[in-house]
Amino acid sequence: MEVDRRLFLATLGAGALDLMSPEDKAEALEHYMEGKLDDMVSARDGAEPMLYMPDGEAIALAELQQEGSRSPRGTGRLFMPRAQEFAPMSEKPTLAEFFEKRFAPANHVLQSATHALETGQPERTILACLMHDVVLNLIKVDHGWWGAQLIEPYVEERISWGIRYHAPLRFYPDESVGYEYPELYNRIFGEDYVPEPYITKAYEFAKDHRYYMEARMITVNDTYAFEEGKVVSIDPFIGIIGRHFKQPKEGLGYDNSPSAHMWRTIAHPNRPL
Ligand SMILES: [Fe+2]
Ligand SMILES: [Fe+2]
Repeated sequence: MEVDRRLFLATLGAGALDLMSPEDKAEALEHYMEGKLDDMVSARDGAEPMLYMPDGEAIALAELQQEGSRSPRGTGRLFMPRAQEFAPMSEKPTLAEFFEKRFAPANHVLQSATHALETGQPERTILACLMHDVVLNLIKVDHGWWGAQLIEPYVEERISWGIRYHAPLRFYPDESVGYEYPELYNRIFGEDYVPEPYITKAYEFAKDHRYYMEARMITVNDTYAFEEGKVVSIDPFIGIIGRHFKQPKEGLGYDNSPSAHMWRTIAHPNRPL
């Protein structure tokens, strides 16, 4: 994907770059690219972007922007202005239903999982790639950690572990698997980019861990998942989800797991309190 530096910087607002930490900048860039992919898919609908308030009132996004409103950059997509009301969820929603009604178009994670599938990687890696960024719909801050917690009760440890540490590992190359430091980060933020100390610590911990490659392969597949115009589908992954994601019989959000509330929040972003 081509990133226009000026357009990207414009989304951050005047002067914001000076106030942002290097980690904030890298997050902002990645989410800008993912958002752009999804926007291109959504744009086919042709609808004017609207913000649906909790009481059902709809406000045109253009109207809000005129007033200079700005959501914090760590806000998940589900809480941003949107073109359509949320589709109602069933009583016992499955992961596939979340993909269809809350994560869609999910182009980036589907591309990443498709790359893992097409290059013959293990099913657990394919599932990890499929799930590695879905939590961005809920929250963007520290998305590796949030994303791991979201699925931890339902997958083998290696999958959620990999998702947790893909976030810090992005910033560190590993020649053994052909993962180079993303040139894009250099181009946008300059050569002197340095991750925050807690990111460095997490990387130091992860690189000597027996599960290191679980996280590393997510970063590898990540770099092949920003292709414009790529058509992808959840269909090839339904079987893998069935084999590796322990779908609760009560439905995601209603099984009293440690992350059930996160799934309920994703299912009902309009529900206050
Ligand atoms: Fe990510
Ligand atoms: Fe990603």
